[in-house]
Amino acid sequence: MKLVTIIGARPQIIKAAALSRAIKNHFSDRIQEVIVHTGQHYDDNMSQVFFDELGIPRPDYNLHVGSASHGVQTARMTEGIEDILLKEQPDFIVLYGDTNSTLAGAVAAAKIHVPIVHIEAGLRSFNKSMPEEINRIVCDHCSTLLFSPTLAGIENLKHEGFPLDNDGPYTIDNPKVYHCGDIMYDNSLHFADIAEVKTDIIQRLELAGQPFILSTIHRDSNTDHPERLNAIFDALIGLSKENQIVLPLHPRTAKLLKTNLSNEKQTLVFSSASIKLIPPVSFLEMIALERHAQLVMTDSGGVQKEAYFFKKPCIILRPETEWVEIVQTGNAILADADESRIMEAWQRFKNNPPTVFPEIFGDGHAAEFMLDKIISCKVL
Ligand code: UD1
Ligand code: UDP
Repeated sequence: MKLVTIIGARPQIIKAAALSRAIKNHFSDRIQEVIVHTGQHYDDNMSQVFFDELGIPRPDYNLHVGSASHGVQTARMTEGIEDILLKEQPDFIVLYGDTNSTLAGAVAAAKIHVPIVHIEAGLRSFNKSMPEEINRIVCDHCSTLLFSPTLAGIENLKHEGFPLDNDGPYTIDNPKVYHCGDIMYDNSLHFADIAEVKTDIIQRLELAGQPFILSTIHRDSNTDHPERLNAIFDALIGLSKENQIVLPLHPRTAKLLKTNLSNEKQTLVFSSASIKLIPPVSFLEMIALERHAQLVMTDSGGVQKEAYFFKKPCIILRPETEWVEIVQTGNAILADADESRIMEAWQRFKNNPPTVFPEIFGDGHAAEFMLDKIISCKVL
């Protein structure tokens, strides 16, 4: 069986590591994987570092699309992916998550009848002003095999009319939905101990034995709106009076801080001894930081979940989340880009740190489960 896997943005490269590892360890006699990197992320610390560190095979193709507006970027990817699919004639295309690379893969494949496997199907924010919400809805509705990491995802698909108890053969018009656990959990479990040995970021940042807050910010809804970005940094500056803060900066945020953060706050943030603004870190460094942090503050989907995997409370810098279970269990709080809600959430977690983190993301073998279904289910 031949799979064409599309990756492009940082979290997709990381997720692909789990699938490629499972193919290598358990399915190498039955599955050939062709990896296509769209080039959506291209800086070394947003792309190459993960190949070097996580043992992901070198991409067979790189479309080098780079950054552009949504339409231009997606169009360039769609064109390149269509050419590759026509040449490779795969049994399936594998798409991760909800980025423009996901959307391009879905549109290219569905129109020329290549069945789509969507990993991270069913997640919804119910906020269509997010580009990701459009991408994931389109991808789900073009897919033949939909793998949802959570029960909330399964419910969302049910509400959108996806059948849950249908028989094969499966097609784009008779798709199959599976509940499979989270492929990112596979990676966090696999790499947690390796990270402790292979990285020295905790020592390098002089954080050994010190409580600190780990934060990431990259959503366009925060970076591109000065009032929201300033409100988040008001909270960070407030918290930095009593806490160390580590903030690996996504390149989008690094660029927009210069234009969208007030001059006064830029001066405070860039000169603060307790706010460590650092370039994007590698995955092993990131999970070492997550494991040692006292609390995580983020607008990232992946980082929210990893906070939960490492049993850390999380303040979500968004009005809603697709990962509703982590809020429902009381381990994360939606604080949006609102200084007072962020400070309240901090106080709540400081006074009452959560201790119970139910197993809601599977058993760390989501990749094997998915590959087994891809190989064995009947698809026309
Ligand atoms: C994208 C995804 C988002 C995901 C995020 C993961 C879409 C619509 N968005 O957002 O869902 O959460 O990736 O990180 O697909 N840039 C660089 N170097 C790079 C990559 C980007 O400098 O290697 C800068 C460019 O100025 C670019 C900006 O970051 O314009 C945004 O990059 P883009 O890939 O368009 O969106 P992300 O914000 O990264
Ligand atoms: N990540 C990383 N280095 C960083 C920031 C994040 O390796 O400096 C990892 C993080 O551990 C998670 C993934 O990137 O696995 C999340 O990606 P991101 O926040 O860019 O996107 P999202 O998950 O919101 O789509």
